[in-house]
Amino acid sequence: MFLEAGLLTRRSVRKFDPDKKISDADMADVLKIAMYAPSGCNKQSWRFVVVDDAKRKEELMQNHPHIAFLREAAAGIVVCGDTNSQCDEGFWVLDCATATQNLLLALHGKGLGGCWCAVYPYVDRMAAFQRVLNLPDNIKPLAIVVAGYPAQIPPQPQNRYSPDKVHHNQW
Ligand SMILES: Cc1cc2nc3c(=O)[nH]c(=O)nc-3n(C[C@H](O)[C@H](O)[C@H](O)COP(=O)(O)O)c2cc1C
Repeated sequence: MFLEAGLLTRRSVRKFDPDKKISDADMADVLKIAMYAPSGCNKQSWRFVVVDDAKRKEELMQNHPHIAFLREAAAGIVVCGDTNSQCDEGFWVLDCATATQNLLLALHGKGLGGCWCAVYPYVDRMAAFQRVLNLPDNIKPLAIVVAGYPAQIPPQPQNRYSPDKVHHNQW
C-alpha cells in the first residue's frame, strides 16, 4: 500500500542520472498530483515553472547556494504562488507547500526523485528567481523541486516517529 511503501520511503534525492529525461506524460502526471493538494478556500493559488533548458538552469544555480545538482537533473520545477488568487494574506505559502509535498510524493511514486530547495523565505533568492524566470509581481517563488531519475537512492531514514512530540488534549 502506498501509505507504507511510499510515504515512509521517500527521501530527498540530490544525485541524478544526467542522461534520463522526464517524459512529458510523467511530468504532466506529477504536476496533476501536485494540483490535487489541499489549498485555502480551494483557491489552488499554486503555479509552476518547469525549467529544463540548460542555460536557464545555470542561471538559477548562480542564484541559489544549494542547487548545484540541478545541472545533472532533468528539470527544476519552480513552485510559485499567485498572490492575486490566494484565500487570504499569506495563504499562497501554505498552498504551495502542500502542492510541493504532493509533487515530491508523486515523483517518488513514479520511481523518480526530487529535492525541495528553499527559495522562500529568502528575499534575495526570491528576487533573483523572479528576475531570471520573468515572473510578474504577483507570482512568488516558494521552492524549486529539483527532479529527475535518481543516480543514487539515499539510505532509508532512521525511525522518525517520536511519541514524545505528541500531546493529548493539552500540552
Ligand atoms: C522547507 C524546506 C526547505 C528545504 N531546502 C533545501 C535546500 O535548499 N537544499 C537542499 O538540498 N535540501 C533542502 N530541503 C530538503 C531537506 O534537507 C530534507 O527534506 C531533510 O534533510 C530530510 O531528508 P529527506 O527529505 O530525505 O527525508 C528542504 C526541505 C524543506 C521541507
